[in-house]
Amino acid sequence: MRHIKGLLAGFVGLGLVTAGVPALAQPAGGPQTGIVFRNTVTGEQLDVSQGKEGGRDTPAVKEFFQTGKNIYIDDKSCLRNGESLFATSCSGCHGHLAEGKLGPGLNDNYWTYPANTEDTGLFATIFGGANGMMGPHNENLTPDEMLQTIAWIRHLYTGPVKDAVWLNAEQKKNYTPYKQGETFPTDVKGQCKPLEN
Ligand code: HEC
Repeated sequence: MRHIKGLLAGFVGLGLVTAGVPALAQPAGGPQTGIVFRNTVTGEQLDVSQGKEGGRDTPAVKEFFQTGKNIYIDDKSCLRNGESLFATSCSGCHGHLAEGKLGPGLNDNYWTYPANTEDTGLFATIFGGANGMMGPHNENLTPDEMLQTIAWIRHLYTGPVKDAVWLNAEQKKNYTPYKQGETFPTDVKGQCKPLEN
């Protein structure tokens, strides 16, 4: 795997491989990621090493950067944190339940940018922003915090389960649309430590 990535990095260096090809290595000097994240609007490559410090070497972020799988989905300790991060950074524009306000709803199966149906797309939108008031959030959230926020956004989903591509088969079986008032206690156990602030 490392060997192949080195090879790909070489090709990128030579300019032989360009936009439109998924999952290429970051350019030399950038972090080693399996997934290349691109700006939701411009398609420009995002440098995930930029922005708020920390929250990059957690097992969840490492896994996500390699495979695009967000292991915080369904983890109550991460949902607890994600709820609070969403309330601080997103709900002012997207609504308390992500039902939509100044910005579009994030709790249904309609997406302006279909890439947001995947957690990798949602991550790229949060990290690099979209149009107008949807600015980049990489200065106020670490990648790990973004994964927690994503878990909460997915938890708020009320649409049909068949479109919930972020759930695995087991999670799909247990899916019930979000009902107002589902929160998680501060001492719930899981992969995410309580937030410090
Ligand atoms: C200042 C207001 C504002 C804040 C704060 C904000 N957004 Fe947005 N957001 C918007 C607007 C406006 C759009 C529509 C932009 C567009 O269509 O390009 C948008 C678009 C989006 C989209 C694309 C939705 C789609 O249908 O494809 C996502 C995802 C999103 N925001 C997530 C977030 C998350 C997560 C946060 C918090 C980390 C956040 N936003 C914070 C205003 C905001």
